[in-house]
Amino acid sequence: MESKFFTSEALIRYVESVSAPEHPLLAALRTETDAHPDHQMQITALQGQFLQLLVLATGARKTLEIGVFTGYSSLAAALALPDDGRITALDISEEYTSVARRYWKKAGVEGKIDLRIGPALESLDRLTKEGAGFDFAFIDADKTSYPEYFEKTLALMRRGGLIAVDNTLRDGKVIDAANREKDTVAIREFNASRRHDERVISSLLPIADGLTLAVKR
Ligand SMILES: C[S@@+](CC[C@H](N)C(=O)[O-])C[C@H]1O[C@@H](n2cnc3c(N)ncnc32)[C@H](O)[C@@H]1O
Repeated sequence: MESKFFTSEALIRYVESVSAPEHPLLAALRTETDAHPDHQMQITALQGQFLQLLVLATGARKTLEIGVFTGYSSLAAALALPDDGRITALDISEEYTSVARRYWKKAGVEGKIDLRIGPALESLDRLTKEGAGFDFAFIDADKTSYPEYFEKTLALMRRGGLIAVDNTLRDGKVIDAANREKDTVAIREFNASRRHDERVISSLLPIADGLTLAVKR
């Protein structure tokens, strides 16, 4: 299994061996996605487990996900949510999310997930009109839109709600000043804006590919 942690592979194997076992359907989804040409987009098993912990620890019921792909993070969150919990899941791809839908059904959690296909910025604008009040959100889609995703998501969170943002270290590229890739520039902008952002308390955790947690004050 590919590891994105900034530590040794052997240590990751150890961490996995002492962490809760991966749910069989999450393991099956990981195996199926491993054969997909874009499989590197999938979060790691340990990240999935950490998302579940965050959902449980915050007592979240109403959650938002931006970037579904084949469904690993949404399935992990759905399995951790209470029976009346709900995920509003945004993605632009029918093709990727057809795999997700299959696994949500197998796990009996499809009723918890409201999948909205289309550009996430437009879906977020529609959610703003509907009025939301999310307890938990996970941002993991196209990186150039991260600054806008964060602003729109923050406005949709209840006070005390938790936002988790993936890939905020970009494989370490954020500290390479010569790297001017659009994705890296956007992540740098997003990270720098958090430092004095008094609307949240945030922390960039150096796990996986960098995971920023931000709690709305
Ligand atoms: C990194 S993957 C998400 C991985 C997923 N969280 C998981 O656990 O496997 C990014 C996803 O963002 C979606 N995406 C890219 N651009 C988008 C956009 N403008 N609006 C909505 N979704 C988008 C892609 O289709 C892809 O499924």
